[in-house]
Amino acid sequence: MVSVSMARPTSIFVCSDCGHAAAKWHGQCPACEAWNTLAEERAPTPRAGGGGGRGLRAAGPAGRPMPLREVSADRAPRLATGIGELDRLLGGGLVPGSLVLLGGSPGIGKSTLTTMALGLLQGAGRSTLYVSGEESPAQIRLRAERLEGGAAPGALDVPVLAETDLDTVVATIAAERPDVCVIDSVQTLGASDLTGAAGTVGQVREVATRIMDIAKRNGTAVLLVGHVTKEGSLAGPRVLEHLVDCVLQFEGEKERTYRTLRALKNRFGSTNDVGVFEMRDSGLVEVLDASARFVAEATRAPGSVVLAAMEGSRPLLVEVQALVSPSELVPPRRVVSGIDRNRLALVLAVLSRHAGVSVGSADVFVNVVGGVRVDEPGADLAVALAVAGAARGVVAGGEDARVPVAAFGEIGLTGELRSVAHHDRRSEEARKFGLTQLVTPETAPTLREAVRLAFGSARSPARRAA
Ligand code: TYD
Ligand code: MG
Repeated sequence: MVSVSMARPTSIFVCSDCGHAAAKWHGQCPACEAWNTLAEERAPTPRAGGGGGRGLRAAGPAGRPMPLREVSADRAPRLATGIGELDRLLGGGLVPGSLVLLGGSPGIGKSTLTTMALGLLQGAGRSTLYVSGEESPAQIRLRAERLEGGAAPGALDVPVLAETDLDTVVATIAAERPDVCVIDSVQTLGASDLTGAAGTVGQVREVATRIMDIAKRNGTAVLLVGHVTKEGSLAGPRVLEHLVDCVLQFEGEKERTYRTLRALKNRFGSTNDVGVFEMRDSGLVEVLDASARFVAEATRAPGSVVLAAMEGSRPLLVEVQALVSPSELVPPRRVVSGIDRNRLALVLAVLSRHAGVSVGSADVFVNVVGGVRVDEPGADLAVALAVAGAARGVVAGGEDARVPVAAFGEIGLTGELRSVAHHDRRSEEARKFGLTQLVTPETAPTLREAVRLAFGSARSPARRAA
């Protein structure tokens, strides 16, 4: 019997987890034993005359290394999109011929942001192209109409191509030679000569490689939109991240107003920077005074503490809220939004073991207001103080304090507080917004001390006894 999954000689099957290449498809990777990870890819073409000889004999003429001093490094002018936060993350704008991957969960605003960027560029006299494999031209137009009247005049002038066939898309880019092109999304395009469905690792890699090839040849800057998987990584397990020049990640929750755009990789600028955006009716608007807003909106109730966080190289003040309520459930609920669940478990354990705040059988909810995600150990102390305040029903800093308490610091397993990076910038940001009551590892060596400092003057003996 002839095997049905016999590979064509031009194809190999590559495991998305370990990169093992097999000649035919397997349900389980022969190397790392992961299931369903093999996807078809085009086999690398053997070099003409190479003959596979891998001895000491040189396979071709030698290259000529050049001292870096003699290398010409013309700085190509950047294509500024006109969206300040995006340009800043990109290090001044899009670089002609570069590939930028924009990741984010569905509904977060990737199409909105890219349509805005193209609209503004088109309005500034650049040629653009919007390729969509997800939406019809009519749907794209409806979005552009909202943007045209608001954040991105020019959005209706952007040429669109609704297409999922990679060959057609590449041919169109080659023919149109736009300055900037958006591919929305990389997972919806597919090469018809690969068997895997669009969105599989092999297809995604093929799409990115072919698009990169045409982009480099044309000098077109490409924004590749990519969906993230449930685990939060860009689908096509990171295969694209080393191919592209920049990786931008859009984070936040789609029901919330605020979104953060983060540079995870950047060949042309710095990483770890973030921009904060707000989704409005007429598009995404940059939020330049995020700290001021979050502080102004802070509730000043039991269970609320301001966290002086670092978002990349930028300090950001966000409100952390906690609710502790009696539960009938065993085990009780631990619900988080904006922080890591396991981190909360650690904070609760240390609170109870070393600071005398036990929430044992109560439900605990913790929320970072505004949909901001803080994934840094520096958030521990603010979370702990918010929970402590909620558990005891007292306001951090005391009932009559006029400004919220701000905190940052990592909690160690033995109840000690550990310093975190950028102490000065965090404190400075807090002071800048009038938060004079700061609880940090520098003001309190232990969590117990920090709790005493934050609630020491609060008068609520009846509840505290409970
Ligand atoms: P979208 O950009 O389509 O998300 P993605 O491409 O990442 O899946 O838009 C997400 C949401 O934003 C959508 O539910 C509608 C909303 N939205 C606004 O609130 N204002 C606007 O101006 C636009 C264009 C969209
Ligand atoms: Mg979209």
